[in-house]
Amino acid sequence: MRIDIITVLPELLKSPFEASILKRAIEAKLVEVHFHNLRDYTSDNYKSIDDTQFGGGAGMVMMIEPIDKCISALKAERDYDEIIYMTPDGETLKQGMANQLSLKENIIILCGHYKGVDQRVRDQFITREISIGDYVLSGGELGAAVLCDAVIRLIPGVLGNETSALTDSFQDNLLAPPIYTKPREYKGWKVPELLFSGNLPKIEKWREEQAYLRTKERRPDLLAED
Ligand code: ADE
Repeated sequence: MRIDIITVLPELLKSPFEASILKRAIEAKLVEVHFHNLRDYTSDNYKSIDDTQFGGGAGMVMMIEPIDKCISALKAERDYDEIIYMTPDGETLKQGMANQLSLKENIIILCGHYKGVDQRVRDQFITREISIGDYVLSGGELGAAVLCDAVIRLIPGVLGNETSALTDSFQDNLLAPPIYTKPREYKGWKVPELLFSGNLPKIEKWREEQAYLRTKERRPDLLAED
């Protein structure tokens, strides 16, 4: 998989890709991540990427020309499955969406700033608009990092144990069950006895029940989804 991220703040984005699972996925060549500084696609001396709104109103708007130049240069090199715009008014990121995107070959992620981008960018280039939640960030970069993390860890081969992503919260619309490790007892707080029984079918059934109960209590909305 190849991910091209278009941003005005590449330095804000880089560190999540330089540690842990994302770093290993890049080193193992399971994913390539490229950062493109939008200011490299400007045509004036000030490297302007934004301007005031037509019709008046507070806040600057990202201009179409540098974005068009950057996206067109990328599209001239290869086909893209999705061109994603990170925005608070997009579709909310869910695990199912991350699963789908992890199967794509090439994606572009455009990070918005200020008030956002000229609507014509969205109309002409964007195939999908994604929000990471109902709150407004200063820009799309942190959202893009969240999206990439959620997607990259699902690429086959990225997680050491292939089954571990399958047992994550949300994979089957359920939250994950409680987990425990050593010591067996700490300050009198005990691990459920059943987990030492060696009865794997019973343990599995207990985990399923716990996942269901936790979901019912904390996120009943997930049980209503198909
Ligand atoms: N840019 C600003 N806020 C955002 C959000 N909630 N999700 C994605 N991109 C954003």
